[in-house]
Amino acid sequence: MTKEEVLIEALPYIQTYEGKTFVVKFGGAVMVEENLKRAFAKDATMLKKLGINIVVAHGGGKEITKIADAFGIETRFVNGLRYTDEKTLEAVLMGLCSLNKEIAGLITKNGGNAIGLCGADAALLKAKKLVSEIDLGFVGEVVGVNVALLELLMKNEMIPVVAPIGMGERGELYNINADAVASAIAIALKAEKLVYLSDIEGVMVDGKRMPSLNRAQATTLIQEGKICGGMIPKVNSAFEAIEAGVKKVRFIDGRIKHSLLLEVFTSDGVGTEITSDNETARLAAFADDVDGKNEP
Ligand SMILES: Nc1ncnc2c1ncn2[C@@H]1O[C@H](COP(=O)(O)OP(=O)(O)OP(=O)(O)O)[C@@H](O)[C@H]1O
Ligand SMILES: [Mg+2]
Repeated sequence: MTKEEVLIEALPYIQTYEGKTFVVKFGGAVMVEENLKRAFAKDATMLKKLGINIVVAHGGGKEITKIADAFGIETRFVNGLRYTDEKTLEAVLMGLCSLNKEIAGLITKNGGNAIGLCGADAALLKAKKLVSEIDLGFVGEVVGVNVALLELLMKNEMIPVVAPIGMGERGELYNINADAVASAIAIALKAEKLVYLSDIEGVMVDGKRMPSLNRAQATTLIQEGKICGGMIPKVNSAFEAIEAGVKKVRFIDGRIKHSLLLEVFTSDGVGTEITSDNETARLAAFADDVDGKNEP
């Protein structure tokens, strides 16, 4: 395509998305690579300048493990969630807070006016201990989002950048999976889109990318062990969002430079689309529709 064709392809998307809210989960090894981080900061800035409200929720698994190793703290994951004792929590706070400022700084440097926050700032993320079969220590789940704060920032042209730390009733801090945070924020803001950028093409099964994934497929793939590790909380949080009314939920490959822009402004259909049961039924009805009366 010529440059002008590429640019004009974005027009209908810009018109559709102006004034809408997107939540972007930034995570995986892509958070470690300078080039990719810079490209992401530019993409977030560009979306905001085009009138889309952007909230960034970031992870930091790789960085936290590095810090834990340096302090001789053992790293243990249970179903993709990090076992977090007091010492691990210190490594989590250290890693996430420094990454938070770095990402906010990078976006700001590119003209994006970002503000770095964690769940403890104005009770942005109210949390409680996550109860699970195996005790995970200071791992939390989100029970409330300070929507007014996010809206205040977004209305004032800022991009909130949120570290996945939650605050409990007594002021205690929790380590929360960043995918779950992105999903909770997207639900609370009634977001149009939730995009997860990670260091993989999408949901992979036997070496192939799944273009779309529904709840039933995901349950089977988790049971079979084909979806494992960090992909388990990602998939679960994605279905929570789509089932709570977030319109589009997609996993994309953050290793591709500017993958966020490509996802939003082109019809490339990269990554894995998370589909609700309603959507799955609608697509099946369309496939069965011999008269062609229904629109896809
Ligand atoms: N079926 C699968 N398809 C794709 N990735 C999978 C699958 N099963 C497990 N994974 C793993 O999940 C990883 C992504 O989750 P991970 O938690 O490591 O990254 P992230 O969530 O992007 O980053 P962070 O946790 O730092 O926010 C992939 O790199 C891959 O190793
Ligand atoms: Mg993860």
